[in-house]
Amino acid sequence: MTAQIIDGKAFAAQMRSRVAGHVVRLNEEHGITPGLAVVLVGDDPASEVYVRNKGRHTIQAGMSSLEYKLPTETSHADLLALIERLNSDPEIHGILVQLPLPEHLNADLVINAIDPAKDVDGFHISNVGFLATGQNAMVPCTPLGCLMLLRGHLGDLAGLEAVVVGRSNIVGKPMAQLLLCDSCTVTIAHSLTRDLASICRRADILVAAVGRPEMIPGDWIKPGATVIDVGINRIARDGKQQLVGDVDFSSAAGIAGAITPVPGGVGPMTIACLLANTVTACCRAHGLPAPKGLTL
Ligand code: GUN
Repeated sequence: MTAQIIDGKAFAAQMRSRVAGHVVRLNEEHGITPGLAVVLVGDDPASEVYVRNKGRHTIQAGMSSLEYKLPTETSHADLLALIERLNSDPEIHGILVQLPLPEHLNADLVINAIDPAKDVDGFHISNVGFLATGQNAMVPCTPLGCLMLLRGHLGDLAGLEAVVVGRSNIVGKPMAQLLLCDSCTVTIAHSLTRDLASICRRADILVAAVGRPEMIPGDWIKPGATVIDVGINRIARDGKQQLVGDVDFSSAAGIAGAITPVPGGVGPMTIACLLANTVTACCRAHGLPAPKGLTL
């Protein structure tokens, strides 16, 4: 069997264009322009690329994008003062603080200072609780993107056996909550899980989010399973730099029913979901119904 490739790039492009449509309607019917503020502390080159891409896509979707670049040595007091200013600015509907932060800054403290209604990353402790209890949460972008791909490919997920490999706050834990919301039977596995191979082999849906290049080989995959590879790992192969996922794509593609490629799978969905979350936050701030299909 050869797996169907789940084209995240095409799915994300469709989603961005639906977001752009909603932005036009918000503008024409209500005179509102959604605004996203992105805060970057320090000069981590990978973070700079991510932030630039987020800003570009925000503008392309017709929203306003504000970027705040602060020096590495920024104090808690200065960063919290900026967040407070953004919290009370009615033109700003979404706030994202790019992670990782420099070591002297406490990410939990900073994230929990963001107004939960503007927390488009869904990392604030209130949003974590809202998601866990099935209330109107802002949902973390990468797992939301994975869920959209799964629903798009499989339709109803109820009753399916899902295994999430990875237990981070950004992907693994919220991914498990989302699959549970969709009535999957969910297992969270991680680096200390015993007999990971046999746990993966029972998955109808396997989500790999461990950050280890090609750690999951094809023979850990149940024939016909749907595989979502969240990993983005840079490796050197044959003297060249290459991006690979957490799944060994070449062996997995012969066994899975469907699989996301790296690049071009989950990656593009993260920004599409960030734009969707910003529109959702904007609608909620103005007492308007959040657009269907862009959130849970
Ligand atoms: N760094 C890596 N991924 C993310 C993300 O999804 N949100 C933020 N804020 N920082 C990140």
